[in-house]
Amino acid sequence: MSELNRTWDMLWKDYTSFNPHAKRIYDEILEREKASNPSITALVNDHVAFRTFRAPKIGLESLAQIFTALGYELKKDYHFEQKKLYAKHYEHLHDPEMPKVFISELLTEEFSPKVQEAVAYVNDQVPAELLTQPSFLWSGRSWKASYKTYKELLAESEYAGWMYAFGFRPNHFTISFNHLKTFNTLGDLNDFVQSKGHELNSSGGLIKGSTKDHLEQSSTLAGKVQVEFEEGTFEIPACYYEFARRYPQSDGNLYTGFVAQSADKIFESTDTQRT
Ligand code: NI
Repeated sequence: MSELNRTWDMLWKDYTSFNPHAKRIYDEILEREKASNPSITALVNDHVAFRTFRAPKIGLESLAQIFTALGYELKKDYHFEQKKLYAKHYEHLHDPEMPKVFISELLTEEFSPKVQEAVAYVNDQVPAELLTQPSFLWSGRSWKASYKTYKELLAESEYAGWMYAFGFRPNHFTISFNHLKTFNTLGDLNDFVQSKGHELNSSGGLIKGSTKDHLEQSSTLAGKVQVEFEEGTFEIPACYYEFARRYPQSDGNLYTGFVAQSADKIFESTDTQRT
């Protein structure tokens, strides 16, 4: 197995062991696809997303360099002014079937001294030797987290709270709708996932984006998991699963980028305050 395949394999194992609802959805969709075409053995990932804080050691670029070393190249960047985030997306140089990579970072300097202090602490606690290893991407937390600080971060940014509580691990995987054979529309896929008892993120409507954007996306609400803090164990939202349908552009090729306005709503799949 290549280093890149091994990396994806480890990331998928981390993600599914941590988020059993995602594994159930994967199995439910695969079973349906297989029933219509027994030669299908796996579902294809459209992209996988990672989060981090802007900080000297652990910023976006430190995650990106692991992927560039594995054959990925930068394609595009995105600004999220309201949530104070910045992101870049990467694609594999030669293999379009490899998942795209979406890495975002919190613009730490735009937050309160409290947030900046927590980020500086997190940045200090990550061992320098970890930063060059693919395993950095599923290393979780290298720091002790307090529930009090988590709540304080959440009050300023749901994203900051999530990152502080969970650390480095895939935030979500995304099923490529375009590779599925048994669904006519993304709405059909949403209906199927809901019929199996999973909750979807309805912020901005169930489907974010349109054919005009060349990208439609939907996602589950993050499943809740038990997380250990210094004060004890608390149940909080972890990761979600996303579904993406891409449309051809005027040149006939599928759009491979992202839509900031849609991604902005997808970020809310991990919100602790659900309306
Ligand atoms: Ni995504």
